[in-house]
Amino acid sequence: MNFNKTEFYASYGQFKQIPESEKPEVAFSGRSNVGKSSLINKIFNRKNLARVSSVPGKTATINFYSTDNICYIVDLPGYGYAKIAKDEKVRWSGLIEGYLTADRDIALVMQLIDMRHPPSADDLHMIDFLVEAEQPFVIVFTKADKLSKKQREERMNGFAEEIPYFDQIETIEFSAVTGEGVEKIRSIIEEVTQQEEQ
Ligand code: GTP
Ligand code: MG
Repeated sequence: MNFNKTEFYASYGQFKQIPESEKPEVAFSGRSNVGKSSLINKIFNRKNLARVSSVPGKTATINFYSTDNICYIVDLPGYGYAKIAKDEKVRWSGLIEGYLTADRDIALVMQLIDMRHPPSADDLHMIDFLVEAEQPFVIVFTKADKLSKKQREERMNGFAEEIPYFDQIETIEFSAVTGEGVEKIRSIIEEVTQQEEQ
């Protein structure tokens, strides 16, 4: 798969606007500001494919990117951002839940969690939801460059206690700054989208 052949495809603000799946999709989920857009830019070698912002809540729509005519990369809106109006929150959760519960060709969900902190209640709710829905997923720990070796060890031990079924979940430590984890994520994307084609 040529990861450089990734283009913006479409953006949807309402679940009902999303057309039926025509290719396998790899979706990126996580709280606002966790680094979803930065990760997508890094994986696909593009500076501004997805909008990065220090202001949380930047990605308020579901954004589809098409990779090499093989699969869609789906940037879900970040959840858990307190400072937005309640009806906006309802729209966001409707979008995310609608997307994940519809009968779509979702090959994998990459659940992003900020490596510096214990998972939020929303993160744990999301993981629970993915387990219950039997939706294949992996966890990507983001912003790994911000921790020392010791802090990383402590956090990984913490996650093992805090996240249910931790030993059964594939995890990737990632940094959009150093590029750690990029190759692993690319090979997972290739693996899950090609399996589906057989
Ligand atoms: P929303 O679109 O609001 O949901 O946020 P997002 O999850 O797309 O986060 P985004 O990629 O916009 O990044 C949020 C902030 O974190 C920005 O200031 C990024 O520069 C920073 N950031 C993202 N990834 C990393 C990383 O791996 N390391 C460091 N040091 N900073 C990062
Ligand atoms: Mg974003």
